[in-house]
Amino acid sequence: MKKIKEVSFVCSNCGNEFGRWQGQCPACGEWNTIKEVAARFTNNNGSSRVAAPSRGLGQKLEAVNLGKLEVNLTDNKNIFSSTISEFDRVLGKGIVQGSAVLFSGEPGIGKSTLLTQLVGKIGGLYVAGEESAEQIQIRVRRLKLNEKNFDILGTNSIDDIEEFLDRTNNLYKIAIVDSIQVMSCANVTGVAGSVSQIRESTFRLIQLAKKKRIAIFVVGHVTKEGDIAGPKLLEHMVDTVLYFEGDKSGDLRILRTTKNRFGPTDEVGVFKMEEGGLREIKSEEINLVDSESAKVGSAVTVVMEGTRPMLLEIQALVVESFAPMPKRIFSGVDYNRGQLLVAIAQKSLGMPLYKYDVYISVTGGIRIDETAADLAILSAMWSSYKEKPLPGKNVYVGEVSLLGEVKKVKQLDKRKKEAESLGRRVVEMKNVREMKS
Ligand code: TYD
Ligand code: MG
Repeated sequence: MKKIKEVSFVCSNCGNEFGRWQGQCPACGEWNTIKEVAARFTNNNGSSRVAAPSRGLGQKLEAVNLGKLEVNLTDNKNIFSSTISEFDRVLGKGIVQGSAVLFSGEPGIGKSTLLTQLVGKIGGLYVAGEESAEQIQIRVRRLKLNEKNFDILGTNSIDDIEEFLDRTNNLYKIAIVDSIQVMSCANVTGVAGSVSQIRESTFRLIQLAKKKRIAIFVVGHVTKEGDIAGPKLLEHMVDTVLYFEGDKSGDLRILRTTKNRFGPTDEVGVFKMEEGGLREIKSEEINLVDSESAKVGSAVTVVMEGTRPMLLEIQALVVESFAPMPKRIFSGVDYNRGQLLVAIAQKSLGMPLYKYDVYISVTGGIRIDETAADLAILSAMWSSYKEKPLPGKNVYVGEVSLLGEVKKVKQLDKRKKEAESLGRRVVEMKNVREMKS
Protein backbone atom coordinates (compact mmCIF):
# COMPACT_ATOMS: atom_id res chain seq x y z
CA MET A 1 0.00 0.00 0.00
CA LYS A 2 1.37 3.37 -0.98
CA LYS A 3 1.89 5.68 1.95
CA ILE A 4 1.82 9.44 1.67
CA LYS A 5 3.75 11.26 4.32
CA GLU A 6 1.89 14.02 6.05
CA VAL A 7 3.68 16.78 7.85
CA SER A 8 2.32 18.25 11.01
CA PHE A 9 3.59 20.62 13.65
CA VAL A 10 3.51 19.63 17.29
CA CYS A 11 4.10 21.75 20.38
CA SER A 12 6.66 20.01 22.57
CA ASN A 13 5.22 21.65 25.65
CA CYS A 14 1.52 20.84 25.43
CA GLY A 15 1.42 18.29 22.63
CA ASN A 16 -1.13 20.14 20.51
CA GLU A 17 -0.90 19.71 16.80
CA PHE A 18 -1.11 22.39 14.14
CA GLY A 19 -1.21 22.58 10.37
CA ARG A 20 1.58 25.13 10.08
CA TRP A 21 4.60 26.33 12.01
CA GLN A 22 4.09 29.20 14.43
CA GLY A 23 6.50 31.01 16.72
CA GLN A 24 4.17 30.89 19.67
CA CYS A 25 1.91 27.99 20.52
CA PRO A 26 -1.71 29.23 20.35
CA ALA A 27 -2.74 26.55 22.86
CA CYS A 28 -0.28 26.97 25.71
CA GLY A 29 1.38 30.28 24.86
CA GLU A 30 4.96 28.96 24.93
CA TRP A 31 7.45 30.34 22.40
CA ASN A 32 9.62 28.27 20.05
CA THR A 33 8.14 24.96 21.11
CA ILE A 34 6.49 24.02 17.83
CA LYS A 35 8.47 21.47 15.85
CA GLU A 36 7.87 19.90 12.49
CA VAL A 37 6.90 16.27 12.77
CA ALA A 38 6.45 13.78 9.97
CA ALA A 39 4.53 11.22 11.86
CA ARG A 40 1.20 10.47 10.34
CA PHE A 41 0.76 8.31 7.33
CA THR A 42 -2.23 8.31 5.09
CA ASN A 43 -3.33 5.35 3.09
CA ASN A 44 -3.86 5.90 -0.58
CA ASN A 45 -7.59 6.01 -0.02
CA GLY A 46 -6.92 9.22 1.88
CA SER A 47 -7.96 8.02 5.31
CA SER A 48 -5.58 8.76 8.12
CA ARG A 49 -3.93 5.78 9.76
CA VAL A 50 -6.06 4.85 12.73
CA ALA A 51 -3.86 4.15 15.66
CA ALA A 52 -5.94 1.65 17.58
CA PRO A 53 -5.66 -1.56 15.62
CA SER A 54 -9.07 -2.87 16.62
CA ARG A 55 -10.88 0.29 15.58
CA GLY A 56 -11.61 -0.49 11.97
CA LEU A 57 -13.34 2.12 9.87
CA GLY A 58 -17.02 1.62 9.27
CA GLN A 59 -17.12 -1.30 11.68
CA LYS A 60 -20.42 -1.95 13.45
CA LEU A 61 -19.90 -0.93 17.06
CA GLU A 62 -22.05 -1.83 20.04
CA ALA A 63 -22.54 0.60 22.89
CA VAL A 64 -21.47 -0.66 26.29
CA ASN A 65 -23.97 -0.50 29.12
CA LEU A 66 -22.10 0.41 32.28
CA GLY A 67 -24.47 -1.61 34.44
CA LYS A 68 -23.33 -4.71 32.65
CA LEU A 69 -19.65 -3.84 32.56
CA GLU A 70 -17.76 -6.13 34.88
CA VAL A 71 -14.39 -4.52 35.03
CA ASN A 72 -14.02 -1.75 37.52
CA LEU A 73 -10.53 -0.39 37.48
CA THR A 74 -10.63 1.12 40.93
CA ASP A 75 -12.25 -1.94 42.45
CA ASN A 76 -9.93 -3.36 45.09
CA LYS A 77 -9.51 -6.63 43.28
CA ASN A 78 -7.89 -4.79 40.40
CA ILE A 79 -5.45 -3.03 42.64
CA PHE A 80 -2.40 -4.67 44.10
CA SER A 81 0.22 -3.43 46.48
CA SER A 82 3.68 -2.45 45.32
CA THR A 83 4.82 -3.59 48.80
CA ILE A 84 6.60 -0.24 49.06
CA SER A 85 4.25 1.73 51.26
CA GLU A 86 5.44 5.16 50.15
CA PHE A 87 4.84 4.08 46.56
CA ASP A 88 1.33 2.80 47.33
CA ARG A 89 0.54 5.98 49.19
CA VAL A 90 1.39 8.12 46.17
CA LEU A 91 -0.58 5.93 43.79
CA GLY A 92 -3.65 6.08 46.01
CA LYS A 93 -4.10 2.51 47.12
CA GLY A 94 -1.61 0.67 45.01
CA ILE A 95 -0.90 -0.32 41.44
CA VAL A 96 -3.95 -0.48 39.18
CA GLN A 97 -4.05 -3.41 36.76
CA GLY A 98 -3.81 -2.31 33.15
CA SER A 99 -2.79 1.24 33.98
CA ALA A 100 -0.14 3.27 32.22
CA VAL A 101 2.07 5.25 34.55
CA LEU A 102 4.58 7.85 33.41
CA PHE A 103 7.51 7.86 35.80
CA SER A 104 9.49 11.00 35.19
CA GLY A 105 12.37 12.86 36.70
CA GLU A 106 15.78 14.29 35.91
CA PRO A 107 18.47 11.91 34.70
CA GLY A 108 20.34 10.36 37.61
CA ILE A 109 17.67 11.09 40.17
CA GLY A 110 16.98 7.41 40.86
CA LYS A 111 14.14 6.37 38.57
CA SER A 112 15.78 3.12 37.49
CA THR A 113 16.79 2.40 41.06
CA LEU A 114 13.27 2.74 42.47
CA LEU A 115 11.66 0.76 39.65
CA THR A 116 14.31 -1.93 40.00
CA GLN A 117 13.43 -2.16 43.67
CA LEU A 118 9.76 -2.43 42.72
CA VAL A 119 10.39 -5.34 40.37
CA GLY A 120 12.70 -6.89 42.96
CA LYS A 121 9.82 -6.95 45.41
CA ILE A 122 6.88 -8.08 43.30
CA GLY A 123 8.48 -9.50 40.18
CA GLY A 124 7.93 -8.39 36.61
CA LEU A 125 9.32 -7.56 33.22
CA TYR A 126 12.05 -4.94 32.87
CA VAL A 127 12.42 -3.64 29.34
CA ALA A 128 15.94 -2.31 29.25
CA GLY A 129 16.54 0.15 26.46
CA GLU A 130 19.39 2.02 28.08
CA GLU A 131 21.32 -0.65 29.95
CA SER A 132 22.39 -4.21 29.29
CA ALA A 133 21.09 -7.15 31.30
CA GLU A 134 24.53 -7.36 32.93
CA GLN A 135 24.36 -3.77 34.09
CA ILE A 136 20.96 -4.38 35.59
CA GLN A 137 22.20 -7.50 37.29
CA ILE A 138 24.97 -5.48 38.93
CA ARG A 139 22.37 -3.05 40.24
CA VAL A 140 20.09 -5.84 41.40
CA ARG A 141 22.96 -7.43 43.33
CA ARG A 142 23.99 -4.13 44.79
CA LEU A 143 20.42 -3.61 45.97
CA LYS A 144 20.37 -7.16 47.34
CA LEU A 145 17.18 -8.05 45.46
CA ASN A 146 15.96 -11.41 44.30
CA GLU A 147 17.40 -11.94 40.81
CA LYS A 148 14.73 -14.51 40.00
CA ASN A 149 12.10 -11.77 40.10
CA PHE A 150 13.57 -10.13 37.02
CA ASP A 151 12.89 -10.89 33.41
CA ILE A 152 14.98 -8.52 31.33
CA LEU A 153 13.96 -7.75 27.77
CA GLY A 154 16.73 -5.88 26.00
CA THR A 155 15.20 -3.84 23.21
CA ASN A 156 14.54 -0.35 21.91
CA SER A 157 11.60 -1.39 19.81
CA ILE A 158 7.95 -1.02 20.74
CA ASP A 159 7.13 -3.61 18.08
CA ASP A 160 9.36 -6.11 19.93
CA ILE A 161 7.66 -5.37 23.23
CA GLU A 162 4.23 -5.88 21.67
CA GLU A 163 5.27 -9.16 20.11
CA PHE A 164 6.86 -10.37 23.33
CA LEU A 165 3.87 -9.53 25.51
CA ASP A 166 1.54 -11.15 22.99
CA ARG A 167 3.56 -14.33 23.14
CA THR A 168 3.88 -14.40 26.94
CA ASN A 169 0.20 -13.72 27.50
CA ASN A 170 -0.66 -12.74 31.08
CA LEU A 171 2.68 -13.73 32.51
CA TYR A 172 3.38 -10.33 34.03
CA LYS A 173 1.51 -7.99 36.33
CA ILE A 174 3.92 -5.14 35.81
CA ALA A 175 6.36 -4.08 33.12
CA ILE A 176 8.90 -1.29 33.27
CA VAL A 177 9.94 0.48 30.07
CA ASP A 178 13.25 2.27 30.70
CA SER A 179 13.17 4.74 29.02
CA ILE A 180 10.67 6.19 26.55
CA GLN A 181 13.41 8.40 25.09
CA VAL A 182 15.22 5.42 23.57
CA MET A 183 12.14 3.59 22.28
CA SER A 184 10.89 3.72 18.73
CA CYS A 185 8.23 2.28 16.47
CA ALA A 186 9.10 0.94 13.03
CA ASN A 187 6.17 2.62 11.28
CA VAL A 188 7.08 6.12 12.43
CA THR A 189 9.78 8.31 10.98
CA GLY A 190 12.18 10.21 13.17
CA VAL A 191 14.86 9.03 15.54
CA ALA A 192 14.17 7.72 19.04
CA GLY A 193 13.53 10.64 21.34
CA SER A 194 11.78 12.77 18.72
CA VAL A 195 8.31 14.09 19.40
CA SER A 196 6.71 11.71 16.92
CA GLN A 197 8.49 8.61 18.25
CA ILE A 198 7.85 9.41 21.89
CA ARG A 199 4.21 10.11 21.26
CA GLU A 200 3.51 7.02 19.19
CA SER A 201 5.57 4.77 21.50
CA THR A 202 3.66 5.94 24.53
CA PHE A 203 0.36 5.59 22.75
CA ARG A 204 1.14 1.99 21.84
CA LEU A 205 2.34 1.15 25.33
CA ILE A 206 -0.92 2.50 26.77
CA GLN A 207 -2.90 0.32 24.34
CA LEU A 208 -0.78 -2.63 25.38
CA ALA A 209 -1.34 -1.99 29.08
CA LYS A 210 -5.12 -1.95 28.56
CA LYS A 211 -5.15 -4.95 26.24
CA LYS A 212 -2.88 -7.16 28.33
CA ARG A 213 -4.01 -5.84 31.72
CA ILE A 214 -0.42 -5.13 32.69
CA ALA A 215 0.53 -2.07 34.67
CA ILE A 216 3.19 -0.40 32.55
CA PHE A 217 5.60 2.08 34.08
CA VAL A 218 7.13 4.26 31.41
CA VAL A 219 10.31 6.03 32.44
CA GLY A 220 10.72 9.53 31.00
CA HIS A 221 13.67 11.82 31.56
CA VAL A 222 13.07 15.50 32.01
CA THR A 223 15.59 18.28 32.22
CA LYS A 224 15.27 21.22 34.57
CA GLU A 225 14.30 23.43 31.66
CA GLY A 226 11.50 21.09 30.59
CA ASP A 227 12.81 18.97 27.78
CA ILE A 228 12.10 19.13 24.08
CA ALA A 229 9.94 16.12 23.29
CA GLY A 230 9.78 15.64 27.00
CA PRO A 231 7.30 13.75 29.10
CA LYS A 232 5.17 16.90 29.37
CA LEU A 233 3.85 15.96 26.01
CA LEU A 234 2.63 12.64 27.36
CA GLU A 235 0.92 13.72 30.51
CA HIS A 236 -2.56 13.86 29.05
CA MET A 237 -2.20 10.41 27.50
CA VAL A 238 -1.30 8.27 30.51
CA ASP A 239 -3.42 7.41 33.56
CA THR A 240 -0.97 8.52 36.18
CA VAL A 241 2.02 10.83 36.17
CA LEU A 242 4.66 10.40 38.85
CA TYR A 243 7.52 12.82 39.37
CA PHE A 244 10.63 11.78 41.21
CA GLU A 245 12.58 14.76 42.40
CA GLY A 246 15.21 16.00 44.76
CA ASP A 247 18.64 17.53 44.78
CA LYS A 248 21.10 15.12 43.20
CA SER A 249 23.85 16.36 45.47
CA GLY A 250 21.64 15.57 48.46
CA ASP A 251 20.10 12.23 49.31
CA LEU A 252 16.46 13.12 49.77
CA ARG A 253 13.98 12.13 47.07
CA ILE A 254 10.33 12.98 46.80
CA LEU A 255 7.85 11.02 44.74
CA ARG A 256 4.77 12.98 43.82
CA THR A 257 1.90 12.60 41.45
CA THR A 258 0.64 15.41 39.26
CA LYS A 259 -2.11 13.39 37.66
CA ASN A 260 -3.93 10.32 38.85
CA ARG A 261 -7.05 8.87 37.31
CA PHE A 262 -7.40 6.43 40.18
CA GLY A 263 -6.67 8.45 43.29
CA PRO A 264 -5.75 11.75 44.86
CA THR A 265 -2.81 13.83 43.66
CA ASP A 266 -1.80 15.40 46.92
CA GLU A 267 0.14 12.58 48.54
CA VAL A 268 3.89 12.33 48.35
CA GLY A 269 6.35 9.60 49.14
CA VAL A 270 9.66 10.42 50.73
CA PHE A 271 12.82 8.38 50.17
CA LYS A 272 16.47 8.60 50.97
CA MET A 273 19.11 7.49 48.47
CA GLU A 274 21.59 5.31 50.30
CA GLU A 275 24.30 2.78 49.48
CA GLY A 276 21.71 0.01 49.33
CA GLY A 277 19.23 1.98 47.25
CA LEU A 278 16.19 4.04 48.12
CA ARG A 279 14.91 3.75 51.64
CA GLU A 280 11.43 4.86 52.66
CA ILE A 281 11.36 7.64 55.19
CA LYS A 282 8.75 7.71 57.92
CA SER A 283 6.90 10.86 58.94
CA GLU A 284 8.93 11.26 62.11
CA GLU A 285 12.16 11.25 60.15
CA ILE A 286 11.15 14.10 57.86
CA ASN A 287 12.88 17.03 59.38
CA LEU A 288 15.08 18.77 56.97
CA VAL A 289 16.35 21.50 59.21
CA ASP A 290 19.52 20.27 60.79
CA SER A 291 21.11 23.32 62.31
CA GLU A 292 19.73 24.92 65.45
CA SER A 293 21.81 28.05 65.23
CA ALA A 294 20.44 31.04 63.41
CA LYS A 295 22.23 32.02 60.24
CA VAL A 296 22.20 35.19 58.20
CA GLY A 297 19.90 34.75 55.20
CA SER A 298 18.18 31.66 56.52
CA ALA A 299 14.53 31.19 57.49
CA VAL A 300 12.62 28.04 58.40
CA THR A 301 9.13 27.26 57.15
CA VAL A 302 6.70 24.36 57.30
CA VAL A 303 5.32 23.07 54.03
CA MET A 304 2.69 20.39 53.63
CA GLU A 305 3.89 17.45 51.60
CA GLY A 306 0.58 15.77 51.00
CA THR A 307 -0.94 15.41 54.41
CA ARG A 308 2.42 15.58 56.17
CA PRO A 309 4.04 18.70 57.52
CA MET A 310 7.72 19.11 56.75
CA LEU A 311 10.16 21.71 58.05
CA LEU A 312 12.33 23.28 55.40
CA GLU A 313 15.09 25.84 55.42
CA ILE A 314 15.04 28.65 52.90
CA GLN A 315 18.25 30.47 52.13
CA ALA A 316 18.52 33.86 50.50
CA LEU A 317 21.48 35.83 49.32
CA VAL A 318 20.87 39.49 48.63
CA VAL A 319 23.99 41.21 47.30
CA GLU A 320 24.76 44.45 45.56
CA SER A 321 24.58 43.98 41.81
CA PHE A 322 27.14 45.00 39.27
CA ALA A 323 25.12 43.87 36.30
CA PRO A 324 22.91 46.23 34.28
CA MET A 325 20.02 43.88 35.06
CA PRO A 326 20.19 42.52 38.62
CA LYS A 327 20.14 38.74 38.80
CA ARG A 328 17.20 36.71 40.12
CA ILE A 329 18.19 33.12 40.58
CA PHE A 330 15.72 30.90 42.39
CA SER A 331 15.96 27.21 42.94
CA GLY A 332 13.05 25.30 44.40
CA VAL A 333 10.85 28.40 44.20
CA ASP A 334 8.62 29.29 41.28
CA TYR A 335 10.25 32.05 39.24
CA ASN A 336 7.18 34.24 38.95
CA ARG A 337 6.33 33.87 42.61
CA GLY A 338 9.93 34.79 43.48
CA GLN A 339 9.76 37.88 41.27
CA LEU A 340 6.56 38.91 42.99
CA LEU A 341 8.14 38.51 46.42
CA VAL A 342 11.11 40.61 45.30
CA ALA A 343 8.66 43.35 44.32
CA ILE A 344 6.82 43.08 47.65
CA ALA A 345 10.15 43.28 49.49
CA GLN A 346 10.98 46.44 47.62
CA LYS A 347 7.63 48.10 48.30
CA SER A 348 6.71 46.89 51.78
CA LEU A 349 10.14 46.44 53.32
CA GLY A 350 11.86 49.26 51.47
CA MET A 351 14.67 47.03 50.22
CA PRO A 352 16.26 48.70 47.13
CA LEU A 353 16.37 45.42 45.23
CA TYR A 354 16.62 47.09 41.82
CA LYS A 355 20.35 47.32 42.53
CA TYR A 356 20.72 43.96 44.28
CA ASP A 357 21.08 40.43 42.96
CA VAL A 358 18.74 37.99 44.70
CA TYR A 359 19.44 34.26 45.02
CA ILE A 360 16.97 31.97 46.76
CA SER A 361 17.27 28.27 47.40
CA VAL A 362 15.45 25.61 49.32
CA THR A 363 17.62 23.13 51.16
CA GLY A 364 17.31 19.46 50.36
CA GLY A 365 16.53 20.28 46.74
CA ILE A 366 12.81 20.33 47.42
CA ARG A 367 10.53 22.30 45.14
CA ILE A 368 8.04 24.42 47.01
CA ASP A 369 4.75 24.89 45.30
CA GLU A 370 2.67 26.46 47.98
CA THR A 371 2.42 30.11 48.86
CA ALA A 372 2.68 29.30 52.58
CA ALA A 373 6.43 29.74 52.22
CA ASP A 374 6.13 33.38 51.06
CA LEU A 375 6.78 34.80 54.50
CA ALA A 376 9.84 32.63 55.04
CA ILE A 377 11.28 33.64 51.66
CA LEU A 378 10.78 37.32 52.47
CA SER A 379 12.25 36.85 55.95
CA ALA A 380 15.32 35.14 54.55
CA MET A 381 15.78 37.97 52.05
CA TRP A 382 15.36 40.55 54.81
CA SER A 383 17.88 38.75 57.01
CA SER A 384 20.45 38.62 54.22
CA TYR A 385 19.91 42.26 53.29
CA LYS A 386 20.24 43.40 56.92
CA GLU A 387 23.04 40.91 57.61
CA LYS A 388 21.25 39.92 60.79
CA PRO A 389 20.16 36.39 61.64
CA LEU A 390 16.49 35.78 62.44
CA PRO A 391 15.70 34.50 65.95
CA GLY A 392 16.85 30.88 66.00
CA LYS A 393 13.65 29.09 66.96
CA ASN A 394 11.35 31.02 64.66
CA VAL A 395 9.36 29.39 61.92
CA TYR A 396 7.70 31.49 59.23
CA VAL A 397 4.42 30.40 57.69
CA GLY A 398 2.12 32.61 55.66
CA GLU A 399 1.06 33.69 52.24
CA VAL A 400 1.91 37.33 51.52
CA SER A 401 -0.46 39.56 49.55
CA LEU A 402 0.62 42.25 47.12
CA LEU A 403 0.18 44.80 49.91
CA GLY A 404 2.41 42.88 52.29
CA GLU A 405 -0.40 41.46 54.41
CA VAL A 406 0.27 38.01 55.86
CA LYS A 407 -2.61 35.65 55.18
CA LYS A 408 -3.49 32.48 57.04
CA VAL A 409 -2.74 29.25 55.24
CA LYS A 410 -4.52 25.91 55.21
CA GLN A 411 -3.68 23.34 57.89
CA LEU A 412 -2.00 25.97 60.05
CA ASP A 413 -2.60 24.00 63.23
CA LYS A 414 -0.89 20.94 61.86
CA ARG A 415 2.11 23.03 60.85
CA LYS A 416 2.27 24.74 64.24
CA LYS A 417 2.17 21.40 66.02
CA GLU A 418 4.99 20.04 63.92
CA ALA A 419 7.13 23.13 64.59
CA GLU A 420 6.40 22.89 68.31
CA SER A 421 7.22 19.21 68.46
CA LEU A 422 10.67 20.20 67.20
CA GLY A 423 11.08 22.94 69.78
CA ARG A 424 10.29 25.82 67.46
CA ARG A 425 7.42 28.24 67.17
CA VAL A 426 5.48 29.76 64.30
CA VAL A 427 5.82 33.54 64.29
CA GLU A 428 2.58 35.56 64.41
CA MET A 429 2.67 38.45 61.96
CA LYS A 430 -0.12 40.45 60.30
CA ASN A 431 1.98 42.43 57.86
CA VAL A 432 5.52 41.93 56.61
CA ARG A 433 6.31 45.49 57.74
CA GLU A 434 6.44 44.14 61.31
CA MET A 435 9.70 42.50 60.34
CA LYS A 436 11.37 45.91 60.33
CA SER A 437 10.60 46.61 63.99
P1 TYD B 1 19.44 5.87 38.58
O1 TYD B 1 18.34 5.07 39.18
O2 TYD B 1 20.30 5.21 37.59
O3 TYD B 1 18.87 7.24 37.96
P2 TYD B 1 17.89 7.47 36.70
O4 TYD B 1 17.37 6.17 36.24
O5 TYD B 1 16.81 8.39 37.24
O6 TYD B 1 18.69 8.19 35.66
O7 TYD B 1 20.28 6.43 39.81
C1 TYD B 1 21.48 7.00 39.61
C2 TYD B 1 22.17 7.41 40.89
O8 TYD B 1 21.77 6.74 42.05
C3 TYD B 1 23.63 7.11 40.71
O9 TYD B 1 24.32 8.33 40.66
C4 TYD B 1 24.05 6.31 41.87
C5 TYD B 1 22.91 6.38 42.82
N1 TYD B 1 22.67 5.11 43.54
C6 TYD B 1 22.90 5.01 44.91
O10 TYD B 1 23.29 6.00 45.56
N2 TYD B 1 22.66 3.84 45.56
C7 TYD B 1 22.23 2.74 44.89
O11 TYD B 1 22.02 1.68 45.52
C8 TYD B 1 22.02 2.83 43.48
C9 TYD B 1 21.57 1.64 42.68
C10 TYD B 1 22.25 4.02 42.84
MG1 MG C 1 17.91 5.14 34.48
